[in-house]
Amino acid sequence: METPSRAQGSDNELDAKEWVEKDRRFLWHHMQPYAASQNPMVVTHGEGAVITDLDGNRYVDAMSGLWCVNLGYSEKELADAAYEQMRQMPFYPLSQSHLPAIQLAEKLSEWLQGDYRVFFSNSGSEANETAFKMARQYHIQNGEPSRWKVISRYRAYHGNSGAALAATGQAQRKIKYEPLSPGFVHVAPPYCYRCPFGQTYGSCHTECASVYDQVINWEGPETVAAVIMEPVITGGGVIVPPPEYMKQVREICDKYGVLLIVDEVICGFGRSGQQFGHQNFGVTPDIVTMAKGITSGYLPLSATAVRAELFDSFTEPEPYAHFRHVNTFGGNPTSCALAVRTLELMEKRSLVARSRELGRQLEQLLLPLQDHPNVGDVRVFGLLAGIELVVDKQSKTPVSPGFIGEVIASCKRKGVLVGKNGDTVPEFNNVLTLSPPFIISDEELQFIVQTVIGALDETSAIHHQKPETEGMASS
Ligand SMILES: Cc1ncc(COP(=O)(O)O)c(C=O)c1O
Repeated sequence: METPSRAQGSDNELDAKEWVEKDRRFLWHHMQPYAASQNPMVVTHGEGAVITDLDGNRYVDAMSGLWCVNLGYSEKELADAAYEQMRQMPFYPLSQSHLPAIQLAEKLSEWLQGDYRVFFSNSGSEANETAFKMARQYHIQNGEPSRWKVISRYRAYHGNSGAALAATGQAQRKIKYEPLSPGFVHVAPPYCYRCPFGQTYGSCHTECASVYDQVINWEGPETVAAVIMEPVITGGGVIVPPPEYMKQVREICDKYGVLLIVDEVICGFGRSGQQFGHQNFGVTPDIVTMAKGITSGYLPLSATAVRAELFDSFTEPEPYAHFRHVNTFGGNPTSCALAVRTLELMEKRSLVARSRELGRQLEQLLLPLQDHPNVGDVRVFGLLAGIELVVDKQSKTPVSPGFIGEVIASCKRKGVLVGKNGDTVPEFNNVLTLSPPFIISDEELQFIVQTVIGALDETSAIHHQKPETEGMASS
């Protein structure tokens, strides 16, 4: 493929400086420490899987923005769908109804292969907040008012708002923001590479799953409303469970009358190689939350889908039986129309199958990394990959933030944007992440992997000469 490259000089040089000055003065960046946010990459264009910044530098985006631009950056049909809907009817709240929301809710039920009711919001965090409220209210209306606790997993991310952040199992996202919503209990993740139970897969009886039985009993089954989990922990380091794990957790939930909420914010919409991540594991969730890929990231939208049977308990003719939850922008007609078009295009172009095929290619391409001295584990699930970097294979000590920062910076210099699990749990932000768009070419995918391997070799060589403790500039 034609290698994305730095433009030789830029037509925009003066403009670019001015924009950055304004950025420094007015904009507060997400996540970035202050110093890093002083030199933002100001992105101006996108074409397929490639983005261009103000200086004319072009990069293959191996992260689909923030795990979401699955159809790439230049899908005209999505822009057209939004434009047409905006011209026809730009806003109406969902206390009443509109056609794009009806169409989308029906399509989501089809993709979920079940009978679901859909509630729309704007973001993944809100979709999860909505799910927690629904779960608690459901139990009260189902005659079990003491069920209010939610069990989630360490290492997983579920959002930035009060309850979604409480469900999140990443201490570094919570520092200085606690106390958060009460009632969230965490269990260890199914993490075979560093098994929290000290076991080895194959002879372990999946204690990572049976621990739910224990914890539900310790908490008191009559107090537990729901379990929330992603099919695969994504932003927390692409932690892929054993194949039987999710089914076992589903069975434990059923045994104790606990609802299973599946957070498909990243795994959904083809990212896992199936329409939804949980479909890889043969389970039926009670509640499914989704966002990101629902619009391929083009507009904000999220959804909380609830099994129809659960919804029935919200239809009782009692005061406060209905779900008293409103969201001004949630299910905006333009977002819904764009989402419908996203799903139609995915169907027409068989993009779920393409994601699956690309995932297989990615797995093959990453094979040589198994032998790299600084690679402890390579985990691929659908079109998602996590490459866990270690100082050496024996000790499994995570590489320093400087090391992984330098790998990411080197990839960027070579024209590829990759991610990592950032600010999750202390000392374990050592997983490089890849989540490329489904429309990426085979050649672009190869280029990503070659670049990552080259960057790793380069960084390893430098660190071999320099002791770890000297550190390196973080990107
Ligand atoms: C698994 C998961 N759930 C929830 C969220 C929160 O979504 P949002 O950022 O749209 O609020 C995210 C965001 O990255 C996520 O990865």
